[in-house]
Amino acid sequence: MGMQSVAVACGALTLCLALTTATNPGFVVRITQAGLDYAQQQGIAILEKELAQLKLPNISGKSGELHYSLSRLHIPSFRLPHSQITPISNVGLQVSISNASVELNGDCWVKFLFIKGPGSFDLKVENISIKFILRLGSDTSGKPTISTSDCSARASKVGLHFSGKLAWFYNIFKKGNKSLLQKQLETMVCDNVAKSVHNELQTYIWTLPVTARIDDKIGINYTLVAPPRATTQSLDLDLKGEFYSLAHRSPVPFSPLPLAFPSDHERMVYFGASSYFFNTAGIAYHEAGALVFEITEAMIPKDVEFKLNTSVFSAFIPQLEEKYPNMPMKFRLSTPTAPFLTIGEGGISFQPIVDVQAYAILPNSSLAPLFLLSLTGNVSAVINVRSGRIVGSLDVGRIRLSLKDSAVGTFQVQFVQSIMNYLSSSVLLPRLNARLDEGFPLPLLDRIQLSNILVRFHQNFLLLGADVRFQPQG
Ligand SMILES: *[C@@H]1O[C@H](CO)[C@@H](O)[C@H](O)[C@H]1NC(C)=O
Ligand SMILES: *[C@@H]1O[C@H](CO)[C@@H](O)[C@H](O)[C@H]1NC(C)=O
Ligand SMILES: *[C@@H]1O[C@H](CO)[C@@H](O)[C@H](O)[C@H]1NC(C)=O
Ligand SMILES: *[C@@H]1O[C@H](CO)[C@@H](O)[C@H](O)[C@H]1NC(C)=O
Ligand SMILES: *[C@@H]1O[C@H](CO)[C@@H](O)[C@H](O)[C@H]1NC(C)=O
Ligand SMILES: *[C@@H]1O[C@H](CO)[C@@H](O)[C@H](O)[C@H]1NC(C)=O
Ligand SMILES: *[C@@H]1O[C@H](CO)[C@@H](O)[C@H](O)[C@H]1NC(C)=O
Ligand SMILES: *[C@@H]1O[C@H](CO)[C@@H](O)[C@H](O)[C@H]1NC(C)=O
Repeated sequence: MGMQSVAVACGALTLCLALTTATNPGFVVRITQAGLDYAQQQGIAILEKELAQLKLPNISGKSGELHYSLSRLHIPSFRLPHSQITPISNVGLQVSISNASVELNGDCWVKFLFIKGPGSFDLKVENISIKFILRLGSDTSGKPTISTSDCSARASKVGLHFSGKLAWFYNIFKKGNKSLLQKQLETMVCDNVAKSVHNELQTYIWTLPVTARIDDKIGINYTLVAPPRATTQSLDLDLKGEFYSLAHRSPVPFSPLPLAFPSDHERMVYFGASSYFFNTAGIAYHEAGALVFEITEAMIPKDVEFKLNTSVFSAFIPQLEEKYPNMPMKFRLSTPTAPFLTIGEGGISFQPIVDVQAYAILPNSSLAPLFLLSLTGNVSAVINVRSGRIVGSLDVGRIRLSLKDSAVGTFQVQFVQSIMNYLSSSVLLPRLNARLDEGFPLPLLDRIQLSNILVRFHQNFLLLGADVRFQPQG
């Protein structure tokens, strides 16, 4: 029986921990005060429910000649009307709950000299204030950790009421030791806060996917590169933010640049994805051999006149007619080096270089290399967030071609320009965009949904802002 609630309540914070160095992070998650407020609301609601289910042990004691015991303690209500989560620079998050109240009832049994017998009581404790610090760290595997410290719980205004035949005894008991229950309650609150943060909240924030496997070739490293950082305005998580090829690991030949976050705080959470993050994607896909693409006759839409065969190309390349008459062709596109992009305030821009090797397919199915083109062009990207994933689509401006090699004599590349324009815009880009539309996972905790998405470009990074919704279990 945990105070899931507490944990989560406090953890509400965590909701947002969807997310977050010695070196610069490649990816930063920022949880703003708006996010902490949302976390606090969600958390407190759960916490109220959990506290009301606290199992209290029997209490017995003695005060002079008075012997008493309390049992079947039950909490019909636990109200936490005011609470706040405040980031405290270099410390963590302070949770303070004020003017809370609790009602408690149960059975009692008293013995005082010759008087003894059962009764029942109602206790109402009001104006309880609870304060504690949530300390955030990271473990050796780069996952976030959370614990509590400096917990205090104070209560004033205790109302005690007895019923039963011995109700008259109420005053004596009250004089005996009213503060006993109060003390018990105070320790119990702090014990349970610590326990539930450890059991529930810690478990929850471990759902941060520190390594997100994207497919059988590529993963994203979202481990924390430093403990979460509290500032007066936000909680920031610095993550590695690096794509990697599962098969070939090699050191990335450049480092992340610092991300100068703007002081935007309207959204609950912001994600800063550096150009490093995207460029390691380029490297990982390149190394995994995933940036190789073949264009064959079968991919050309049926309603198009154009056929991918040597008869068509022999109009510009006379030697084709003699050497490879009327044979189907195939293009193999690959990247000689990993694509490298830059991000500026105007957006993402890059000029990938693509090698296009043309082949004739011989009657016995083997391939005869014809010519090698180098293709480049300005590519622009539109980025969005959908279902907790970064999605994108690319558009390419005019492509530029140059002939790198040919087994069929030199020819004027502008003759094949319109064919290559067509192939890149109608065959290559739609396929690439279909993949980019599946997107890449953001580092989010379980059961978190994003809405109200904002996309902005800054020097060296993409800023994504969002509001958060926590889907309670069940
Ligand atoms: C508490 O007291 C009740 C009534 O006397 C008893 O039935 C119950 O077993 C006790 N619980 C514990 C944990 O001692
Ligand atoms: C504190 O809570 C009590 C009820 O438990 C309420 O009557 C009182 O107005 C509250 N005080 C403040 C300052 O909110
Ligand atoms: C409620 O508690 C606060 C802090 O513990 C204290 O300053 C205040 O006087 C208390 N109010 C009442 C009505 O007991
Ligand atoms: C009341 O309880 C407190 C804490 O348990 C104890 O220190 C104190 O001696 C008790 N007072 C009486 C009068 O029993
Ligand atoms: C992720 O990055 C951290 C920090 O650089 C590193 O220690 C860890 O080995 C990396 N994990 C993977 C799976 O690459
Ligand atoms: C090659 O393309 C031309 C023109 O579209 C067509 O007439 C011819 O049948 C095609 N040859 C093959 C082998 O597909
Ligand atoms: C296919 O045919 C070509 C030329 O006709 C020949 O050079 C090549 O060795 C053949 N390849 C195979 C695998 O038979
Ligand atoms: C690509 O963009 C750059 C700068 O915006 C420009 O100088 C260049 O001419 C463009 N290239 C093509 C092929 O459009």
